[in-house]
Amino acid sequence: MSLLLKSVDDNGVATLTLNRSEARNALSMDMRYALTDAFNAMSTDDAVHCVVLSGGKKFFAAGADIKEMVASTPVDIILREIERHWQVIAKFPKPLISAVNGYALGGGFELAMHADIIIAGESAQFACPEVRLGLIPGGGGTQRLVRAAGKAQAMRYLLTGDFIPAQQACDLGIISDVVPDEKVLESAHTLAQRIAALPPIAVRQIKEVTLAGVEAPLDVGLALERRGTQLMFATEDFQEGANAFLEKRPPEFKGR
Ligand code: CAA
Repeated sequence: MSLLLKSVDDNGVATLTLNRSEARNALSMDMRYALTDAFNAMSTDDAVHCVVLSGGKKFFAAGADIKEMVASTPVDIILREIERHWQVIAKFPKPLISAVNGYALGGGFELAMHADIIIAGESAQFACPEVRLGLIPGGGGTQRLVRAAGKAQAMRYLLTGDFIPAQQACDLGIISDVVPDEKVLESAHTLAQRIAALPPIAVRQIKEVTLAGVEAPLDVGLALERRGTQLMFATEDFQEGANAFLEKRPPEFKGR
């Protein structure tokens, strides 16, 4: 059975589902290679406009595979080059939505936080429990959590490994939306379909400029945004969007 289930619908929405329930979707090296291959393939697949990443109906992912890690030496860990796998997801150019049911822990939480939008079920739980194992987060948890929630809240959860219930995570700005558990996938797909119907070049520019700008001084971010705006005037989709508005008809975007 494949570790990662993949499908693409007619609307340009791809769904990736972690499929390792016997280990609560723990991110084994095989799973990481499967994710890397899938994201690499989707980044150049014109049929894919937006991606929903799910762990299925019961849990998102329980983090790095502790059984694989327990006997590892520091050299083993260096040679695994996990950062190269994370990088492919972090640099994925198309919109990515995490659809979280159940636990998103450690590397599973970090995986969810690689998405642009996180939709969670009301009983979902997030945590960086690494400290309880004598570890620290290794997939960006310290850095992404502090950027999302600020120092006081990030420290509160990083230093204890405490669970963050979905509503709390939403209130703190860590996730985007909380919906009934049984509506998580449907909500993520509805949103993904709306985004997939929008002009893809503009969508990708918004993602790129927003993420690059967060890490840059404001004047650099504003310059990036200005260049991105100017670039949009070269697209057929801008002409189509503006003309459709003026002609009071729905636009037909072509991704050109
Ligand atoms: N790695 C490997 N196996 C895991 C796992 C993990 N992260 N999480 C769960 N499993 C396995 C269990 O060992 C168990 O296997 P066996 O049947 O062979 O015993 C199976 O999945 C079911 O687990 P539970 O019986 O514990 O299931 P549960 O539903 O009662 O609890 C859970 C689920 C709350 C997620 C619990 O399994 C848990 O706390 N898991 C560990 C979470 C964790 O500490 N994650 C951080 C990992 S470190 C990391 O991610 C950091 C990094 O990048 C450096």
